[in-house]
Amino acid sequence: MADAEEAAYFEAGRSAEVVINRMGPKTDPRLREIMSVVVRHLHAATREANITSDEWMAAIQFLTDTGHMCSEWRQEFILLSDVLGVSMLVDALNHQRPEGSTENTVLGPFYVSNAPRYAHGDNICLDGKGEPLVVRGRVVDTEGRPIEGATLDVWQANEDGFYDVQQKGIQPDFNLRGIFESDAKGEYWFRSCKPRWYPIPDDGPVGKMLAALDRHPNRAAHLHFIVSAPGYDRVVTHIFTPDCPYLPEDAVFGVKHSLIADFQKVDDPAQAAERGFDGPYWSVEWNFVLAREGALQGADN
Ligand code: BEZ
Ligand code: FE
Repeated sequence: MADAEEAAYFEAGRSAEVVINRMGPKTDPRLREIMSVVVRHLHAATREANITSDEWMAAIQFLTDTGHMCSEWRQEFILLSDVLGVSMLVDALNHQRPEGSTENTVLGPFYVSNAPRYAHGDNICLDGKGEPLVVRGRVVDTEGRPIEGATLDVWQANEDGFYDVQQKGIQPDFNLRGIFESDAKGEYWFRSCKPRWYPIPDDGPVGKMLAALDRHPNRAAHLHFIVSAPGYDRVVTHIFTPDCPYLPEDAVFGVKHSLIADFQKVDDPAQAAERGFDGPYWSVEWNFVLAREGALQGADN
């Protein structure tokens, strides 16, 4: 038998090489690069863990169940990527920013575009649940100069730990979502309720996997933001409360030290009245620092 023919047959000792060599000359170079790495690592992992046939079938069943769980409203594969830390890794590789810029974190599956546009001071907490909160601050560039007209798209879970889209007909539509714009001083402010921790959807295969790994599904309490302005790199981020027990063990590894804010309790009737509350409330001041487009040092930016 010719050497080339011999080399094309499967052999456990050089299994990855055999598969990689099967790619034809018309393969896109980047696809060839990625698939070569994936096949090499997949074969190495299979060998290193000495995977049994039953274990491999269980893995295939798990991926099948994950696919079956996906719908217009549920993306179980993204959840899988999130709990394995891959979403955070991909983001980190692609969004390295100049020192001092606001860091990114996971988008999550509950973002809805076209939330209502609000004026400063409006309250996005439409169900009236939870402890009142004022969020205020500035959007600035890396030199500290105000950015006027930046868009702040905010969303959060309610006091019961659910997003409006998870409780259609129970929560008002667009509860705890809104879009605000920074003014000439770069300032913004709005009212909401203090976020609390909540479990990511864990009634599917990813939830079962977490349970098997003795991991809880809880996310540290946060507000989500997408902050954007023309000429600046869009930031997909969170503000975390400092008192949440799940900060060091966020289910999707989304916590970064620089995103933990200082939430202050305000128990002063005059200030409460000024902010439109009738009792004590929480207050957080948070500045978003946007980097100029092209100022990124990321792999593909
Ligand atoms: C969220 O924060 O909304 C989220 C992020 C990742 C997975 C599930 C939920
Ligand atoms: Fe969230």
